[in-house]
Amino acid sequence: MGKIIAIANQKGGVGKTTTSINLAASLGVLEKKVLLIDADPQANASSGLGIDVDAVEGGTYHVLEHSISAKDAIVKTSSPNVDIIPANIDLVAIEIELVDKEDREYMLKKALVNITDDYDYILIDCAPSLGLITLNSLVAADSVIVPIQCEYFALEGLGKLLNTIKSIQNIHNTELDIEGLLLTMFDSRLRLSNQVVDEVRKHFHSMVFETIIRRNTRLGEAPSFGESIIAYDATSKGAINYLNLAQELIKKNS
Ligand SMILES: Nc1ncnc2c1ncn2[C@@H]1O[C@H](COP(=O)(O)OP(=O)(O)OP(=O)(O)O)[C@@H](O)[C@H]1O
Ligand SMILES: [Mg+2]
Repeated sequence: MGKIIAIANQKGGVGKTTTSINLAASLGVLEKKVLLIDADPQANASSGLGIDVDAVEGGTYHVLEHSISAKDAIVKTSSPNVDIIPANIDLVAIEIELVDKEDREYMLKKALVNITDDYDYILIDCAPSLGLITLNSLVAADSVIVPIQCEYFALEGLGKLLNTIKSIQNIHNTELDIEGLLLTMFDSRLRLSNQVVDEVRKHFHSMVFETIIRRNTRLGEAPSFGESIIAYDATSKGAINYLNLAQELIKKNS
C-alpha cells in the first residue's frame, strides 16, 4: 500500500510546492510510482508540472466533495511515473462547502482508499493555512514533511503546526507520523542560514532530514517551463538535492 505524505507548513513560501514537485519527480526517476495531489487553490504544483489549470474540470475540489472519484481525477504528467490530481482556484470554495458536513475532515481519506494500492507514494502539496483542506490532508496522511526555510523567522508558527499535528493524532489519526523536517533554501555563505540549521538540529535532532535543500536559482526557474528540476536541469544542485532527499526517504521507509 502506498504511503501518503502531506507536505505542510502554514507559513507561506517555505518550499512546500518546490519540494512536492521535485520530490515527486525524483521518486519517479528512482522508479517509484507517485501521485501528487494539489491541495492548494493557488495550484502551483499543477501549473509547475505543466497542467493548464484553467482547463481543470475534475480536480481536488471534486474529489473532496466526492462528486468524482479520485481515480477519475488523475492526470498523467510528463514526469516519468508521476501522476497528479490537479487543482485550480475553485478549490477555495470547498472550505465553506464542507463546514457543516458530517465527517468533513475525512473527505480526502475516504476518497483515496481505492487508489492507495496503485502507488508507492502519494504526496499532498498543502496550502499555507491550517484550514479544512489542510486538515483533510493531515487526516488522510501517514506522515508529514515540514519544509523549513533557512531564513529569519524560520521557526515562526512551527509550534502551532506541531500542536495541530498532535491534536490530529489525538482525535482523528493516531497513526500520523512526522516523516521529517526539511531545511530548504539554505545558503552556506549566510551566517543566518547556518544558524537556522544548527538551531533546528539542536531542537529536533533526528527528526530533521540529513539532506538539506540549497538555494538554487534553477529550482525557481523550472516551474515557469512546467517542468520539474529533473527535466529542466538534471545536473543542477537543486536536482541533486532532491534526488538525495528521495533516496533518504526510500531508505527510511524500506
Ligand atoms: N531551494 C530553492 N532555491 C531557490 N528558490 C526556491 C527554492 N525553494 C523554493 N524556491 C522559490 O521560493 C518561492 C516559494 O517556494 P514554494 O512555492 O515552493 O513555497 P510554498 O511553501 O509552496 O509557498 P506557498 O506557501 O505560497 O504555497 C518560489 O518562488 C520558489 O521557486
Ligand atoms: Mg505552495
